[in-house]
Formats: sequence, C-alpha cells, structure tokens
Amino acid sequence: MVNPFFILHLTFLLICSLLDERVAEIAHVTYLHRGSSLSVKQASDVIRSPDGSFSFGLYNLSSTAFTLSIWFTNAADRAIAWTANRDRPVHGSGSKVTLNKDGSMVLRDYDGTVVWEVSKISAKVDRVELMDTGNLVMVDQGGNILWQSFEHPTDTLLPGQSLTATTKLVSTNPSHRSSYYTLRFDEQYILSLSYDEPHMSNLYWPNPDQNSWSNKRILYNSSRRGVLDKPGQFEASDNTSFIASDWGLDIKRRLTLDYDGNLRLYSLNKSDGSWYISWMAFSQLCDIHGLCGCNGICVYTPAAACTCPRGYVVMDPNDWSKGCKPQFSITCGKGVQQMGFVGIPWTDFWGSDTNFVMSASLDTCREVCLASCSCVAFVYKVYPHPHGCYLKSGLFNGKTTPGYPGVTYVKVPESFLSHSQANSSDSAHGHVCNELRTHTFNYAARVDEKGTAWYYYYSFLAAFFLVELCFIAVGWWFMTRKQSVCSVIWAAKDEEGFRVVADHFRSFTHKELQKATNNFMDELGHGRHGSVYKGILHDNRVVAVKKLKDMKGGEAEFETEVSVIGRIYHMNLVRVMGVCSEGTHRLLVYEFVENGSLDMFLFGSKGLLLQWHHRYKIAVGVAKGLAYLHHECMDWIIHCDVKPENILLDEEFEPKISDFGFAKLLQRDESDSDMSKVRGTRGYMAPEWVSSAPVTEKVDVYSFGVVLLELVMGHRMFELPTNGSGDAESALRQLLLMIGENKKISDGNWIDDLVDPRLNGDFVRPEVLLMLEVAALCLEQDKNQRPSMSDVVQKFLCR
Ligand SMILES: *[C@@H]1O[C@H](CO)[C@@H](O)[C@H](O)[C@H]1NC(C)=O
Ligand SMILES: *[C@@H]1O[C@H](CO)[C@@H](O)[C@H](O)[C@H]1NC(C)=O
Ligand SMILES: *[C@@H]1O[C@H](CO)[C@@H](O)[C@H](O)[C@H]1NC(C)=O
Ligand SMILES: *[C@@H]1O[C@H](CO)[C@@H](O)[C@H](O)[C@H]1NC(C)=O
Ligand SMILES: *[C@@H]1O[C@H](CO)[C@@H](O)[C@H](O)[C@H]1NC(C)=O
Repeated sequence: MVNPFFILHLTFLLICSLLDERVAEIAHVTYLHRGSSLSVKQASDVIRSPDGSFSFGLYNLSSTAFTLSIWFTNAADRAIAWTANRDRPVHGSGSKVTLNKDGSMVLRDYDGTVVWEVSKISAKVDRVELMDTGNLVMVDQGGNILWQSFEHPTDTLLPGQSLTATTKLVSTNPSHRSSYYTLRFDEQYILSLSYDEPHMSNLYWPNPDQNSWSNKRILYNSSRRGVLDKPGQFEASDNTSFIASDWGLDIKRRLTLDYDGNLRLYSLNKSDGSWYISWMAFSQLCDIHGLCGCNGICVYTPAAACTCPRGYVVMDPNDWSKGCKPQFSITCGKGVQQMGFVGIPWTDFWGSDTNFVMSASLDTCREVCLASCSCVAFVYKVYPHPHGCYLKSGLFNGKTTPGYPGVTYVKVPESFLSHSQANSSDSAHGHVCNELRTHTFNYAARVDEKGTAWYYYYSFLAAFFLVELCFIAVGWWFMTRKQSVCSVIWAAKDEEGFRVVADHFRSFTHKELQKATNNFMDELGHGRHGSVYKGILHDNRVVAVKKLKDMKGGEAEFETEVSVIGRIYHMNLVRVMGVCSEGTHRLLVYEFVENGSLDMFLFGSKGLLLQWHHRYKIAVGVAKGLAYLHHECMDWIIHCDVKPENILLDEEFEPKISDFGFAKLLQRDESDSDMSKVRGTRGYMAPEWVSSAPVTEKVDVYSFGVVLLELVMGHRMFELPTNGSGDAESALRQLLLMIGENKKISDGNWIDDLVDPRLNGDFVRPEVLLMLEVAALCLEQDKNQRPSMSDVVQKFLCR
C-alpha cells in the first residue's frame, strides 16, 4: 500500500517547485552566491541593482554573440556601462559565468574555454552583488569589497567611479571591440585624450597646440585622480573640470569615450529612455585626431565627414578611420617619374613635420619637397607672417577648416593632374571636390610662375570661392542623397550611434532577375549550392545572380537570414546586394567580380599565369576577409568551404571571398553547434572535421593553409605526388616536415624547387618563406595549435 503521506509530500514538492519557477521568472536576483551561475538560457538570468537601474548578465550583441556586461535597465538602447570580455564575446548557448566555491568568478564559452576571470582573490568571497551606482562588487560576509568593476572601466565612467593612475577609458567600435581612443593620465600627469594606433600615437585633448598653462592644467600632481560626482561635475587632480548643463541630482549619467574619439557626458531622459548630451569635449569633430585615418581629410558638410585627396581612394567606405590609399606609388630618384602637386586650400595635416622652412616662396617650397623622397606633401601658410613651409612625411589628421590660413600641397604623379583621369574616382563626393581642387591648383601654379605675389593672393581668393562651391555642391549632394559612399558621418547630436551605414541591400522580384539575366542565359559557373548567372540591373550595374537549390524554410525566414549576410561589407568579401525569395525560388544577387575564381588561374588550362605579387596580395586579402568573418563582424561566421573556387578576383586581382554564410543558411533548422549538414571539400577539410569533431573557425584556418601552399606551388594539394605508398594527406605531412627542416638552412635552393615552376624564378623569397611558415602553422593537426585568422593577418602585416 502506498503511504498517503508520501503522496502528500510529493504533491507538496511539486507545488513548491512550480512556485519556485514562477518566482524566478518574476523577481530578479540581486546576488550571485557561491557555486551559482548565470547563463543565457533564461531571460531572468540577470542580476539587478536594488533600485533596478542597472542590470548585469550576458548581453546579446547579436543572436550568437554575448558579452558579460552591466547595462542601464531603463535606457531604450540598453547602453552598456561596463564589459568584462569586450574583445572576446562568447557564443550564446552553453556559455555561463560562475562564482566558484574557491572565490573565483569565471566566464566560460560554450566549449568550456575560459574567456575571462577574476581569479582567486580571496577564499572569503561570499557573493557578487550589483550596487545602485552600477558597481559590480565581490564581497565577503561582512560586506567588505574584495573586487569591484569600478576599478576596471571600459569606455564609460559612472558617477562616483574614479579614473586613476592605473586606469583608463578605451573607446569601443561599432562591432563592440576596443578601438584606438584613450582617456588617461599622460606622462605629465595630465588627463588627456589620445589616439593610439599601432603606427601612431598622439594627444589631441587638451589642445595640443597650447601649453598646459594656456590649457589651465596643472602639471605633475601625482595623485592622478578624476571623478564625476552625482550632480554632474567632473574634477581631476590636474585641474580638469567641467559641469553638466543639467546639473542636479536624480539624473542617471554616464561619461563615455565614444567611437568617434569624443568624450561625452550623457543624461538619461526618464520619460522615453533616450540619452541626451549634457557636456562634450569637442563640438568641432574635425579637431579629433585619426577620424579620417591615414591620408584622409575631415571636412564640414556641415556635419563632419571624410574625404580623400585627389589621387587617393578610400580604403573601406564603411570605415573611414582606415583612411585613404594612394592610387600610385612614388618611385624615388631623379627623372624616374614626373611629380606634381594637388593644392587643397584651408587644409592642414597635424604632425609628421620633417622640416620647416621659414620665409620661403611657394616655388622654393615645392622644390624642397620634390627633392626629398620622404616628403609626401607640404603645408604652405601665408599667415601669420612670415610665410612658412612645413614638409610632411605622412598625412595624418587632415582637416579643412574654412578660414585656415594655409594650403596643403599633396605630391602626386603628374599624370594625376591631367583631366583625363578625372573619371577614375568612384565616389561622387570625391569627384566633385577633387575636380574643383585641381582647377584651383592649376590656376595657382600658373600664376605663381610669373612670380608675382599679388596673383597668388588673387588665386587664393579664387580658391576660397571654389571651395565654397565645392562645399555647397557636397552639401546639396548630401541632402539629396541619403545613401552615399561618404557614409560615415559623425554628428554630435546623433544619439543613435555615430555610424550611418549605407544599406544597399534590397529584395528583388523573380521577374526582375529574370529580365536582368536575360532569362538565365549567361551562366558563369555552377557550384554546390547552385548555378551563377551574369545579369545587368536596370541601373546598368553588372551583377552575378545565384540560383540556390535545396534551400528549405519559408520566404520571410530566408530573407531575414540573408539580410544578415547582406549587412556584411568588407573589401575582401563578395558583396551581397540583394535577395529574391518567391515561392520555390531562392536567389542571391552578388556584385560581379571581373576576373573569375582563383582556381582558373592556379590550375586552369587557360594558360593564364598569376604573377607572384598577385599571389601574395591574394594571400593577404583572403586572410583579412576571413579574419573579418571570424572576429570582426557581428554574427560570427565560419565559412566552412574555403578553397580557390570560392575566391574571386577583381580586375586588380584583389581577392573577394564568396559563398560565406552558407553554412549558416544550411544549418538554421538545427541546433547551434550541429554542422553535420554542412560539408567541406575533400583536400581542404581539417582532420578534426573529417573525424566529425565539433567544427570551429579553425577549420577555415586549415583550409586557408592549403590555399597558401597551392598559391606557392601552383597545383592542387590533394594531387601531391605520392612516392610509392601513402595518400595525399601523408604526402602533405611530409611536405610540411620538409619545410620545417629546411627553414633552418640558410641556403634557399629548396625554395626554388617548391615554387610554381611556371613563375621562372620570378618571386620574392622572403614572401615565399613567410607564406610557407604561415601555411605550416595553419595546417597543424591540433586545432588549438593553429593561429586565429587575426594572428595570420598580423603576421602578414608586421613582416
Ligand atoms: C537582444 O535581446 C533583446 C531582448 O531579449 C531584443 O529586444 C534585442 O533585439 C536583441 N538584440 C540583438 C542584437 O539581437
Ligand atoms: C584651474 O581651472 C580654472 C577654471 O577652469 C581656472 O580658472 C584656474 O586658473 C585653473 N588653475 C590653474 C592653476 O591653472
Ligand atoms: C593634487 O590634487 C588633489 C586633488 O586630487 C589636491 O587635493 C591636491 O591639493 C593637489 N596637489 C597640488 C600640489 O596641487
Ligand atoms: C524627454 O523626452 C520627452 C518625450 O520624448 C520630451 O518631451 C522631453 O523634452 C525630454 N526631456 C529632455 C530633458 O530632453
Ligand atoms: C568621363 O566620363 C564621361 C561621362 O561619363 C565620358 O563621356 C568620358 O568619355 C569619360 N572620360 C574618360 C577619359 O574616360
């Protein structure tokens, strides 16, 4: 007989557990006790501060990437105040943060990797608690603080939190990684904003052109402390001081070093959860260094925007901070190349001065710059008297301010001065400006040859007038066109964020694509996922249309999925321009890439030969594209099928990776980590994948290693000659062993035997060595030994 008490007991337990769940759903926890953890599974897995204004937990950057963060609960944008693992987000399912019994707090990724930890500070740690100030603290039983997030700020300072000798704020870029702007105490103990890039570092606040006395700062007060108080006043030991325009208690504030390098004090509007600015370091954004990158110029249109000098093109239209690159290379030496100058009025490039010539005429200045190989430009100032000439070895921090008494003359090959080149510029903005600027320069130069200063002044006036025209043209162009190549516009009042990304992605109808491709007549090729056709859109853009087969799922679902891929933009990834999802039709519209795929060149029978410098460029470009997919874009993407067929080449042999994101499309019905439906290609698949171990981004690193070897040797790796017994895999291992052995030998004859014989010895030895070295690392059998793609890019760049 069953004991009735037992049944009662069971029922009681059941009710309790049900109640328990209800409670967990409604009330938020305020502590994390020893031995407990937070994960992403439940939305309730969040710690709230007692007054509810701050939350702490795993914060979704996208559907798959999470950071361990503290954020403002009541802000509409859920602004982040602090992040533990800013540069290494974790994957959604399976990752969690735990307060261990030994007093350590550990964040683990889905595969168990420790991503961040506060290691055993003390066995006395009792709990983790979020305070009303937004400070996350680890305390003992008596409530004494043993560790606090306030001592480890990221890009934001909260009221009550102080900046000290050992702490600093570092800006966060739009993909939520730390970027180059820093707020810290400098060597003279002055609280400064600086732009710290690998190649360059300079301070831009307080005003670098004034001494500390004029800036009202006190040098060498070693206490080095700055703090924002609750009512909104900031004071620091170097006499830095500012006050919020809405000074007063009872307002939630944050002082954030934004991605554009500006330091802003924000206040939360309680009624709609939006932020407004109550103080900022710069109202004129062009005064911030590094905004437009190397060779770029910051202009007011009237919002701050970036442009490139004539002869230069933007590196990445979605990220102007990467700057502009020259369309030419300067070969130094007499008579090799005729160089001329493009004049840009009202413009200065801060820093990089190699020489200053006082009271020089414009002609003298030009001669001096022409004679010097390191001189890439000079700034000629007519005011204050005497005339000065500043020779520049690099173009950083370019800025055009109406009224600035100087002209920058940028050195370019003479061919760039002629008008026949005017069409080469691809951006309407650059086009208009550069066109006018060249006119300007030609006029100034011609007049100056006569040697009369008066003419020069007149031409200067004319230049002002022309630039005015340029500004008006650009302004008009900005107002009439929302989407532009100059898509990065920094606007102080733009609270949505500082990057306006041009969204070129759109939906096509099947009819439209049928017409564009002439009813799918011109097939460019076919791959595993379907055939590709050439097409011409009604606006005359040439595109490649891919007809997908075997894609399940509904129309809307497919479009959403693809729009994620459509948002990805990188020079080394094929741009997805649109999608069509109608009935059973699933099509993708890509940009058309002129030169076809890499395999045609490497193994094709077409008799086309890839020169060495192209091969090297392809290696670096593919590495950058993959690094972007793996680490930089918002939804991490593993390509899963890196091979020469999926590497397209544009007319300048810049590689563009295609077919990324397919792995994701194919497995979207499955659970997150199941990649079984996705297949790689024989010869490019990493060993752990063949043996059905979990797939990580390291499978792409492996495939990339194979592609590197193929670039060097010019034939397929799985067709390696096998001596006698053994398969291609062991032949590959032998080859790697041989490379490892031979690297130590200074005599490099072995390289000649390895490199594609069709090159006839026309290659760069150190580059071959580097590629082989990287390939060997990428092809490590143990995936943990392989470098990440960002490491690979670093290896190529820091050669
Ligand atoms: C993150 O989650 C919130 C609510 O859970 C949702 O509203 C938001 O759209 C998500 N954000 C992203 C980028 O997925
Ligand atoms: C400190 O700053 C205040 C206001 O910004 C200024 O009036 C004062 O002269 C400064 N003190 C020194 C020593 O520079
Ligand atoms: C240094 O700064 C602190 C405030 O942070 C102040 O109390 C102290 O008087 C300053 N020392 C000097 C020598 O100015
Ligand atoms: C806060 O938002 C409300 C509603 O949008 C607006 O009317 C009010 O002016 C805002 N307050 C401040 C201080 O900006
Ligand atoms: C420049 O473009 C115009 C119109 O787009 C064209 O007529 C002209 O031939 C082009 N010039 C050169 C040199 O390409």
